[in-house]
Amino acid sequence: MNKLKICVAGGTGWAGSELARAIVDTADIELVAAISRSHAGKTLGEVIGIAGLTTPIFGTVDDALKTNPDVFVEYTKPDVAKFHVISALESGAHVVIGTSGLGVQDYEEINKVAQEVKRGVLAVGNFALTAVLLQKFAEMAAKYIPHWEIIDYAHAGKKDSPSGTARELANRLSNVQEAKLDIPLDEVDGPKESRGARLQGTQVHSIRLPGYVISVDAIFGMTDQKLILRHEAGSSAEPYVSGALLAIREVSKLVGLHRGLDSVMKF
Ligand SMILES: NC(=O)c1ccc[n+]([C@@H]2O[C@H](COP(=O)([O-])OP(=O)(O)OC[C@H]3O[C@@H](n4cnc5c(N)ncnc54)[C@H](OP(=O)(O)O)[C@@H]3O)[C@@H](O)[C@H]2O)c1
Repeated sequence: MNKLKICVAGGTGWAGSELARAIVDTADIELVAAISRSHAGKTLGEVIGIAGLTTPIFGTVDDALKTNPDVFVEYTKPDVAKFHVISALESGAHVVIGTSGLGVQDYEEINKVAQEVKRGVLAVGNFALTAVLLQKFAEMAAKYIPHWEIIDYAHAGKKDSPSGTARELANRLSNVQEAKLDIPLDEVDGPKESRGARLQGTQVHSIRLPGYVISVDAIFGMTDQKLILRHEAGSSAEPYVSGALLAIREVSKLVGLHRGLDSVMKF
């Protein structure tokens, strides 16, 4: 059996290294390259502590792509993610995006390139199964309840805001309808920022405080009743692994940009 050749950009990071550890235990996936600026020139095994894992670490995407991966996994930072993804597509790889912080315009550009080169991109704001289910349940709720808002909670050091999960949720709900606002934002008495950011038709509020890990609430309100869908993650990167492996195995069946792990799941 030919193994799927994978490059993980950010393979030394919190999420990427957990994924790399899991890939080592698979029979069908081979890690051919990783990207990290501070560990370039070493092997991934040396850095994440797996004896015998000789995958080379490269400091730039151009060098890493010389290994000709079938699938490129993006798990770095939003300021370089689009450049990495477009470079990977142009080199002929399919792409799985785990990095959060990319905006609607970034995704439009990525989709354009993916369509041109006839490659698949699967962008997943949250690979955890419970988060995927929250997104599905929220879509169902938005069909019946026109008023909702999102609150995203994370630790004080999380720079990207709103979170990838909140952005993906707002994007999905925009395909159902725009959330209703009884008081338009320009008629708010007081600073309108107090009503959060309007993201694709949804008010999104981001809390960044010590003591939080990462969680999201989708709150749907109706007269005298409300529905609160809440996702909470713990502090390990383990919940994201099986979803990322599924995305890696399935992305080559896609062409163009698809958002959400449920693009490749059966419901
Ligand atoms: N979709 C999901 O389910 C999910 C789950 C977890 C995390 N995430 C997202 O994934 C991203 C990574 O999170 P993390 O917690 O793993 O971050 P992290 O621990 O800081 O790791 C970042 C990794 O990217 C590399 N990197 C950073 N800047 C780079 C650059 N300019 N060029 C090349 N490599 C670069 C780092 O290595 P060097 O610094 O050595 O370059 C490191 O390997 C974040 O956007 C996070 O929100 C998504």
